[in-house]
Amino acid sequence: MKVYVVYDSENGHTEALAHAVAEGAREVEGAEVRIDHVRDANVRLLEQMDAIIWGCPGHFGTISAGLKQWIDKLGYLWARGKLVGKVGAAFCTTATEHGGIEMTLLNLLTPMLHNGMIIVGLPGTVKENVLYGSYYGVGVTCPVEPSPDAPPNLPTERDLALGRALGRRVAEVAGKLAAR
Ligand SMILES: Cc1cc2nc3c(=O)[nH]c(=O)nc-3n(C[C@H](O)[C@H](O)[C@H](O)COP(=O)(O)O)c2cc1C
Repeated sequence: MKVYVVYDSENGHTEALAHAVAEGAREVEGAEVRIDHVRDANVRLLEQMDAIIWGCPGHFGTISAGLKQWIDKLGYLWARGKLVGKVGAAFCTTATEHGGIEMTLLNLLTPMLHNGMIIVGLPGTVKENVLYGSYYGVGVTCPVEPSPDAPPNLPTERDLALGRALGRRVAEVAGKLAAR
């Protein structure tokens, strides 16, 4: 079963989360996982995938332009129903806790629903999600660095655990669907 993780990231915050998502998916037996920054991602590969997980930094409460531009290349797949039935999930990072995490996640999920994909979120029964997380996917806060020279405030271990949990769950669901 094939999983494609596609992400946008300007300064590495979302990239770190994307790698955790991919790592979680790889933990599932039989999962073949590919991960690409959106600048290298190939829409033509999507047809072969069982699951697609995309994510970005939240830009003003919505999808970053880089990822949105790529998603808007999916028109020919949408017109032919090529993504119908594939599993989908989303992740994002923002600088502030109330800076639009859930708006961004919902905006990331909307094109998946338009394409007939089966959305997977993170339920409260997932250990990592009980006290800290989101039902809509994984959205985490990476506070703005105090100066341009300061080391990046990358996602914490707790954030990365959520990313791995999402990747695992998507691959598990995609594996079950592929086995039918
Ligand atoms: C154009 C732009 C708009 C942004 N809008 C928001 C916002 O609305 N809310 C927020 O909390 N952070 C916002 N941010 C901050 C990023 O979401 C945040 O720094 C993110 O973790 C960056 O991830 P990256 O390093 O993967 O690009 C914005 C950043 C940029 C460049």
